[in-house]
Order: sequence, then C-alpha cells, then structure tokens
Amino acid sequence: MRIVRTVRELRETVAAARAGGSTVALVPTMGALHEGHLSLVRAARAEHGFVVMSIFVNPKQFNEASDLAAYPRQEERDAALAEAAGVDLVFAPEAAELYPEGFATTVHVSGPITETLEGANRGAVHFDGVATVVSKLLIAATPDAAYFGQKDAQQIVVVRRMVADLGIPTRIVACPTSRDDDGLARSSRNVRLSAEERSRALAIPRALEAIAAAAAEGEADPVALRARGEAVLEGAGVDPEYLAFVDPDTLEAVPRVSEPTLCAVAARVGEVRLIDNVLLGVAPEQREESVK
Ligand code: PAF
Repeated sequence: MRIVRTVRELRETVAAARAGGSTVALVPTMGALHEGHLSLVRAARAEHGFVVMSIFVNPKQFNEASDLAAYPRQEERDAALAEAAGVDLVFAPEAAELYPEGFATTVHVSGPITETLEGANRGAVHFDGVATVVSKLLIAATPDAAYFGQKDAQQIVVVRRMVADLGIPTRIVACPTSRDDDGLARSSRNVRLSAEERSRALAIPRALEAIAAAAAEGEADPVALRARGEAVLEGAGVDPEYLAFVDPDTLEAVPRVSEPTLCAVAARVGEVRLIDNVLLGVAPEQREESVK
C-alpha cells in the first residue's frame, strides 16, 4: 500500500490502476480509523479493483476550534489498519495541498438539506466545509464510487445533491451504520468519552430502538414518538440538541411517520457531541437497502 501526499501522485496512481483495468473506489475519512471505516473499505473492496482512502482532518468543516484541536490524529496506526483492510492507496495531504495560498472557493449546497439538523446546530460552515472538501477529493481521485456511513445521514444527502448538481460522475454509496456490541454508533469521537459518559451515551441508540419499536407497533405521531425517545434520554441525563423526524431525501419535518422517515438525534455527552439515526417506516431488514 502506498501513501501519497499530492494530488499529482494521486492522479498518476489512479490513472495507472485504471490503465490496468481496475475500477476505482474512494473512502473519504478524517483518520482515527475504527471498524466503521474498515466496513466501508470492505464494501468498496467487494465492488472495485482499486481502493483509495483519503485521510484528511478538514479544518473547513469544524465549527469549533476546540473540536478540531481535539480530533484524534494517528496516521501510522491508520495506515496499518487501512492496509490490513485492503486499501491500495492512502491519500494524506497537508492542508496546503488542498487549500493553497489564495484558495477562495466554497461549495455551498443551499436549502433545507443543509439548514436543518446539523446545519442548524453547527452553522453553515460545517456543510460548506464538507461539500468543498468532498468535491475536491472527488475531482482529484475521479473515483467510480465513494463510500460513506449512514450515521452521517445528512452528509450523504448533501453530498448526493452536490454530486448531482455539479455533474460529478461518482456513485455515492451509503453503508449501514457500524455499531459496537453495546449498540453505540462507532465514531472517532467515542474515544473521548469517559467510562461513565460512554454508559450514558448508550441511551442514544436505546432511544432510537424505543422509537423504532413504537413506530413498528403503529405509532405514527412524531410528537408521541419523540416523547418515547426523550424519556429514554432523560433517564440517562442526556439532553438532545435535536430529535427529529424528517423525510430522508428532503430532510423536511414530517407530520406523520407514514412513509420512510429518518429519525435523527444529536446530543452532547460531557464534551463529546454524538449523532445517530434510524430509518422508520421500513422493515428492519429493508432499512439498509433503502439508504443505498
Ligand atoms: O465523514 C467524514 O469523516 C468527513 O465529513 C469527510 C466525508 C471525510 C469529509 O471531510
């Protein structure tokens, strides 16, 4: 496995892989790899001959300087995990490679899909940063497909809109949220939870489970479903920033859970901000299919 730091080397290596007959997949990451990232690599590996992973802690998408400073950076460990999972090439640029002196472009996706949920809570800067860096990565790597985790459901909606609007010929693949055995959605931020905070954080997947169970029993009123989830969160002393029921494509609030509905939650546990979601209104075995 090679590690390259420049767009030129990335392009040359991808071109050589294509010349050898391979299709190309990109798994964009900010490093601090965990099993969730590796599951994306495995999904990419199953469908493509050449798998690129980008590792770049994108300063433009952090709305809090403290979150950017605390974001774990562990390139050597990441490279070993990436190689073992089957990555062919790691692209790990310095910030100046993607944002050189004089860089003045922002890719802004407008409307409810960036203004609600994470957009409302983290500000426009977050999805501007994501759309800008993902468009740069897709233009640099020209992959046939790029793999993202469903935990960041809104990010996938935003990236799909951006790719469609800019005519970038990359298929965006959403892979199921990867969870630890106790149900907590895997995230690079989880390592910052103390043991006590981690046990309180488990209220998040439990709240989603309680909501999914109530919806499966026929409860379709978002107010009643929210109350079920909030009761679980409150029991653990977790105060959600939002617990929302939205259309999975437009991210607009739904009046009833009659069609597939995304139930998304964000909450701070201690200093760590966590997000998670579940798709309601579809059979559990079809949930993963319906996000592809
Ligand atoms: O999901 C992430 O890790 C990041 O938002 C991404 C897609 C790598 C862009 O920096």
